[in-house]
Amino acid sequence: MIEIRRATEGDNRALIELQTRCPQGTSLILNVDSSPDFFARSKPFKDWTVLVAVDDGRIVGSAGYAISDVLVEGRLVKTAYEYGFMVDPQERRKGIAVKLQECIEQNAVERNVDLLYLNIIEDNVPSANLFSKMGFEKVKECTTLSLMAYKKQRLTKEANIRSAEKSDFTEIAEMINEMYRNYNFFNPFKTEDLLDYLDRMPGFNLHNLFVFQDNQGISACLGYWDYTKVRKYIVERFNWRLRAQLFLMRIAGLFTEMPQIPKPGEPLLSYNLTALAFKQTESIADLVKHVVNVALENRITLLHVPTDMESPVAKVLSQFRHAKVGLQFFVKSLSEKRFSRLGENKLYIDITEM
Ligand SMILES: CC(C)(COP(=O)(O)OP(=O)(O)OC[C@H]1O[C@@H](n2cnc3c(N)ncnc32)[C@H](O)[C@@H]1OP(=O)(O)O)[C@@H](O)C(=O)NCCC(=O)NCCS
Repeated sequence: MIEIRRATEGDNRALIELQTRCPQGTSLILNVDSSPDFFARSKPFKDWTVLVAVDDGRIVGSAGYAISDVLVEGRLVKTAYEYGFMVDPQERRKGIAVKLQECIEQNAVERNVDLLYLNIIEDNVPSANLFSKMGFEKVKECTTLSLMAYKKQRLTKEANIRSAEKSDFTEIAEMINEMYRNYNFFNPFKTEDLLDYLDRMPGFNLHNLFVFQDNQGISACLGYWDYTKVRKYIVERFNWRLRAQLFLMRIAGLFTEMPQIPKPGEPLLSYNLTALAFKQTESIADLVKHVVNVALENRITLLHVPTDMESPVAKVLSQFRHAKVGLQFFVKSLSEKRFSRLGENKLYIDITEM
């Protein structure tokens, strides 16, 4: 008999072990090591809950959700973002994920949540089927752009880049809010929220947040979140499509500098880019180059940014050598409120939601 309950600190070890049995990804299959703290992935959220499915005292599944108010079609809406669904491979197709989802929905209704949302990596057919069956609807296809750090980037002469200071926070928050105010699922920042956001994220602090300053003030900002502090990914295998691409890259690497992609058994070290906003594209391009150089110094090979491809962010980042992974954005409405044009506006995906 499966029981669903809230996870506690005492479940940490069992959840880390369950996660090692649940590799992630579709074209690139990764083993996940979330030690020492399984809950580090949840801590960046303000209001989060992790559930576990227990069978005869053994944890066989888990899922999390985070509640927040975000702008959807111009209105502030209470949402629950769902993440971290996993079921022990030995126990799949027995309805455990359905039970976890039902429990999330029940809790969300009790908290007056209007809208549930989540994103699924392209080709993850089990998950897409699961959430379609549970009444979710796919509203948009977004993309994770993974920039490849493999050669030093040359910045423009005028680039005046420095680490952010607390006194910059009002200006930074205003720039981020101005940039994303018409995006669905954006949660506008107050100055103090930004400080809070940094404090909650393991592997992210003021040193990782940079600004580009010119005569008129700050014209771009960009931070990197060292995700290796949250969890480690080890390459298990690639599918045939990716293997063919890597083979071609290795051949090209004989003639020119090319990115090094880890082989099976090796770690995939990456940063997640966040707090990305700008008034001038030249400034943000320089900041990206700067962060690529920081990554190179620290032997990090990939910098991930989830984005709506209609966003100007995608245009700037696409100039850098990158890989793309599709993200399908799913929603389910729980209240009377109707959202009929969700796929039409640009969509904001916070880095904590990747
Ligand atoms: C996705 C996952 C959580 C599903 O867990 P589960 O307990 O096996 O799912 P359920 O038994 O509750 O299945 C519910 C529905 O999901 C769909 N589904 C689940 N596994 C499927 C599969 N392998 N192929 C196709 N559809 C599948 C089906 O519609 C199924 O309903 P049905 O059995 O009546 O056909 C599980 O496969 C998993 O842990 N995958 C790896 C991690 C992952 O990808 N997480 C999701 C990140 S968004």
